[in-house]
Parts: sequence; structure tokens; C-alpha cells
Amino acid sequence: MRPLDPALLGELGAIVGADQVVVDPDIVASYAVDWTGRFQGETPAVVRPGNLDQVAAVVDVCRGREVALVPQGGNTGLVGGGVPLGGEIVLSLRRLSAIGEVDPLAGQLTAGAGATVADVHRAATAAGWVYGVDLGSRDSATVGGTVATNAGGLHVLRHGATRAQVMGIEAVLGTGATISHLGGLVKDNTGYDLAGLICGSEGTLAVVTAARLRLVPPSPHQVAALIALPGPASAVRAATGLRRSLPELQAAECFFDAGLALVCETLGLAPPFADRHPAYLLIEVAGQEDPTEATAEALASIAEVADVAVATDPARRAQLWRYREGHTEAVNSLGQPHKMDVTLPAAALASFIEEVPDAVRRVAPHAATWLWGHVADGNVHVNVTGVAPRDDAVDDQVLTMAASFGGSISAEHGIGTAKRRWLHLNRSPAEMAAFGAIKQALDPAGVLNPGVLFSPV
Ligand code: MLT
Ligand code: ZN
Repeated sequence: MRPLDPALLGELGAIVGADQVVVDPDIVASYAVDWTGRFQGETPAVVRPGNLDQVAAVVDVCRGREVALVPQGGNTGLVGGGVPLGGEIVLSLRRLSAIGEVDPLAGQLTAGAGATVADVHRAATAAGWVYGVDLGSRDSATVGGTVATNAGGLHVLRHGATRAQVMGIEAVLGTGATISHLGGLVKDNTGYDLAGLICGSEGTLAVVTAARLRLVPPSPHQVAALIALPGPASAVRAATGLRRSLPELQAAECFFDAGLALVCETLGLAPPFADRHPAYLLIEVAGQEDPTEATAEALASIAEVADVAVATDPARRAQLWRYREGHTEAVNSLGQPHKMDVTLPAAALASFIEEVPDAVRRVAPHAATWLWGHVADGNVHVNVTGVAPRDDAVDDQVLTMAASFGGSISAEHGIGTAKRRWLHLNRSPAEMAAFGAIKQALDPAGVLNPGVLFSPV
């Protein structure tokens, strides 16, 4: 790691306040490693601006000196895209956590980059609305991070991913210029959709400082059901059938026998059913009226159901969700996993799920493969444990296989640094050239997240 010029430290301190430029190695260490522990970098300093002007000034100073920055929110990313793997300065946006009033007519709010997804949920709910994005890391993941990565999560089926919620954005480009387009107009065809571009750009074009988010009407009645099934193909079929028969379906998540057993063992949970089953589908239906009866009817029409547990009260629903959301934590307890996050065409999803464990075994005979995901989105999380963090033979095997099935190497976690090498599987040379031209235009000095998406120059 290149030592930081003391003059730069002084300039940064003058912008954000000396106490907000953190250089204590014990403190900066937690900003330099990702949640899984697989991506460990180092940083000379963490800079913690408190407002938009300070962010702009920090980017401008670093741009002028060609010193690289890694923007960071809640540090819940899973692809090595938010930690300083190249010795960059960490630009922490967590202090920008203010959430504005909910506009009661538009059903929108403006949230600072450092507000957590859970904060947005609370603000929306207090005003009689709901935020359409939800994910297991809701208490730590921030608006800035979820916008920068176009986070998906549990309700994409009903409300779309983060980009579908973003009505406008405030951000500092790599040029140092500030853009602010937070009016929240639903229809606004005035040129390029910069918010749509910056959303999902993984901190390579701009530092998101705030976002205007659309809210959705609340669905006060909710029912969850855990369905035991004979295998992945029946889970895919059941999810599609339920999507058609239950228009208010808001989640359809799958997991499998070994993963559930691991979750129960790691988290000390009682298994949901007396018997074990090959596959499980967890659904949630949320409506204005009580959807319990409609859900029971829809479940009765699924031929292959081996067992089912239905929950309407919040505590029991949370118990069922624990079986699904506990997968991330349970797998991480085995050591740093290789996390591949792929989408498949619906028609190929079941075959991929059935074949991928053998494909992994061919390159890593002693590794274990854990699968779960958002089945209605075609998105399966392939986690492999028992492989050294830097040995990427399994990543190569799984990502190449996903692309050969017509899928994408990243459904929702992004490319980060971890999947950069395989981006060519989904993006043509012409697309990569267009990406490069956009990067050059918005971050000409290449100071924003230089290792993400592109190889560092
Ligand atoms: C999930 O759906 O569980 C999240 O994307 C996190 C993960 O893949 O571990
Ligand atoms: Zn996910």
C-alpha cells in the first residue's frame, strides 16, 4: 500500500474535519474486509464526509491527485466491490443517513446514502407506505450501496429491483461534478437516464449521496407458506403456478435439504417438518384482504406438495423466514464461501440446480455446494465451501456453466472485483467498449473503484 501524502491527509481533514479522517489501523481494519472475510484489503485512511459538498470536495481533491477511492456504505457487498483491495482510501457514506419527509401525494421519499434499508422501511411504514425492496441485510445495507449495486432481494417478483424504485438520484461524478435530480417525476423523458445508469454501476462512475425512492401501498394481510417438494423442477413449477394463481405473491424462495439441515444445526432451530424433503419453496402473499383462503386453494392445486406449513401471525412467519434467511449466516460459519450469484432462464433453472453440485465436484472434489435463492426470478445463489479463498476454479466452473445455460453471472450482487474476469461471458467486446467510454466520460481520472468491473490501469 502506497503511504498517503500527509498534505493530502491535511486537505481531507480540512474538508470533513480532522476527526472524520480515520487512520487508526484498528479502526480502519473493519472497513477493509468484507462481511464474508474472503475479500481483505488495506487502506491508509477512511474518510467520513457529513454532507454532499464534503463528498464533492473529497472526490475533487482525490481526482486532482489521482488517488483512488472506494465508496462504502454498510459494507454488506459480497463481490469484493466495496473494500479497498488496491490500497484505496475508503470513502464512507454512513454519516449521510438523513431521510426526508414522505411526500404523501407522490408516495416517495428522499433518503441519504447512509440510511439503511431498514431505516427506509421504518420511515415509509410510519407514513402509511412500504418500501418495495427488502433483503436479509436490511439492518446494515444502505441506500447508497443498494442503489450503487441495484440490489435485488426478496420482493423483486412483486416490486422489481432497486432500479425500479429509484425516481431520481443525487451523486458526485468522478469528474467532481455534482448531479442532483430528485424531483421524483414519474414521467421524465428529458434525455439520458443518469439515475438508471448510476444505479448498478457499483461505484465506478459516481458516488451516490441520496436517492429519491418510490414507495408502494401497504399490504396489511400477509401469509407465508413453506412447501416441501420432491426436487428443484417441482419447486420451479410450483413457483410459476403460484405466480399465476396468486397475483399478490411477493416472494417465492427456494432452498434444499442439506442447506436447511445446516441452518437448523447452526442456528439451533427445530426442523419445520417431521420428515426431510429434497426441496423447499417459501412463499409470501401480501394483500389488502386476507389472502389465507386464496393461498390454501392455490397450494391445494399443486400436485407434488409433500408437506406444507402455513403461517399468518408475524412471529410464526418470521420463524419460517429464518429457515431461508439463515442460509447466509450458516454457510459463512463453515469458513469463507465462494459466493456465485447467477440467474438462469426459467426453462433452464431446474437443470442447472440439479447439475451444478456435480460440476463443482469435478473441479473441487472435497468442496460442498449450497444452493438457495429467488426462484421466481430465476436467481440461484451457489455457495461453495471448503475451497481456499483465492482458488477460483469453482467460480470459473459455475459461472461458465451458468453462461452456457443462457444465464447471467450476476443476478443481484454485481461484478465487483470477484467476477470481473468472467464479465466477457455475458458482455460482448462492443458492450465492454461502451462501458469503457462511459467510465472515461464520468470518471476520466479513474479514481472511483478502479478495480471494479474493469481491470485497474
Ligand atoms: C440472499 O438472497 O440470501 C442474499 O443475496 C445473500 C446471500 O447470497 O448470501
Ligand atoms: Zn439474494
